[in-house]
Amino acid sequence: MQVNNSLAGLTYHVKTFGCQMNLHDAERVSGLLGTCGCLEVATPEEADIVVFMTCCVREKADTHLYGQVSAMVSAPEPPSGRRVVCIGGCIAQRDGASIREHMRNVDVVFGTRAISSLPELIDEARSGNGKTVFADTSEDSQGFSSDLPSRRENAWHAWVPIMTGCNNFCSYCIVPYVRGRERDRAFDDIVDEVRRLHAEGVREVCLLGQNVNSFGRQRYGSPRFAELLRAVGETGIERIRFTSSHPKDLSPATIAAMAETPAVMPQLHLAVQSGSTRVLKAMNRRYTREDYIALANSIKEAIPDIALSTDIIVGFPGETEEDFEQTLSLVREVGFASAFTFIYSKRPGTPAAKIDDPTPREVIQERFDRLAALVADLAHDANQVELGRTVEALVEGASKRDERVLVGHSPKNKTVHFEAPEGCDPHELVGKLVDVRVDEARTWYLRGPMVGEPR
Ligand code: SAM
Ligand code: SF4
Ligand code: F3S
Repeated sequence: MQVNNSLAGLTYHVKTFGCQMNLHDAERVSGLLGTCGCLEVATPEEADIVVFMTCCVREKADTHLYGQVSAMVSAPEPPSGRRVVCIGGCIAQRDGASIREHMRNVDVVFGTRAISSLPELIDEARSGNGKTVFADTSEDSQGFSSDLPSRRENAWHAWVPIMTGCNNFCSYCIVPYVRGRERDRAFDDIVDEVRRLHAEGVREVCLLGQNVNSFGRQRYGSPRFAELLRAVGETGIERIRFTSSHPKDLSPATIAAMAETPAVMPQLHLAVQSGSTRVLKAMNRRYTREDYIALANSIKEAIPDIALSTDIIVGFPGETEEDFEQTLSLVREVGFASAFTFIYSKRPGTPAAKIDDPTPREVIQERFDRLAALVADLAHDANQVELGRTVEALVEGASKRDERVLVGHSPKNKTVHFEAPEGCDPHELVGKLVDVRVDEARTWYLRGPMVGEPR
């Protein structure tokens, strides 16, 4: 890694949109700039270097970015007298230097595989003639971004990328076009990183990839995710989560590894997208409604108290009322603890963008509202099971509304609220594991008193 000392003393701010992959890449950007002697500031207005880590998975994310970048034009100049605006992430990868046609004040555009070049690009932009500098690095010549330094958001949780890219080409999705084909990180590098993180005091890791279940296929010829879970479980790390899983690649070996590795949390995010086999086929998901339900049942059999969550798209082109009813019935049958629901967004360049859809917008919105209401009902029901139980929470910080109320997540990834006990400094509890006796179970959180000693 090159360290660029000419940036020392400049201030920077990173603004992140999109998925965990971007959050992690943003940590790498902060780590890199920190290594170059730059100082992080709280707002883009104060910063000499502003980096936007962008997302284009849905149309809204695009439009949102243009607004934010335009706001930078009218912002007063920073102390150094010159602000460098950098666009990274998936929009940068998709649009390259043509971004400047929509956003004139952009100085640097860097693709999803060009993070390590950022300090040089900023330097070039600062000494250049006002032309936008663009960098995209081919997959082959670029090391895994984890080889770069990272500045973690907090001391007790870490994202650990295990693979990147996606080979699935779901017909609605832009991700394979902006993140490239699947590439795996070396097995031993991942385990070593988790061991090191554990030694540094990290308590929870989330193994990251667009399709974690196929980890190993590209590098080793066959999937090794189950083996990886077991090896990571032996590092001593207390909590392991992972995302995202594709149902077609979730093997019985992985389910067994989850059940038999105590540090793997009893929670699984498994995107279903639709409950209609016809729509799933048009989406190129490569499983049927029946396959998904059978898979969910086998997971529940192996891990009875598991919390399943999912992603669902409403209004895929040609979705009928009957298809949508199938989605509702699958959601009821599986009994998800939570779900992210999205209205289909046409992504130019994907196969689904070519399918015409006569369904009126209001019909799709009405379906979306019905699904959201069902998801909320199920989340409420799932939380009632926790009433009277004592759950462990990893404490993340104070609630925005009341600084004596602390917020954490349970093993099942449920939000837990509790009041810091009398005489206890709430800040001291952040990063600790505490037990909370649940006496209130709302739709989106559990609440109760802390019992016993923090660990
Ligand atoms: N690889 C992950 C998986 O398959 O579970 C998903 C990654 S994607 C970043 C997150 C979610 O965005 C998807 O599961 C899907 O529900 C949603 N999504 C992707 N493309 C979309 C589109 N064109 N319109 C609406 N939602 C979309
Ligand atoms: Fe997109 Fe499908 Fe790949 Fe997930 S599996 S990133 S939804 S193409
Ligand atoms: Fe968005 Fe790129 Fe993630 S498109 S969802 S930031 S992979």
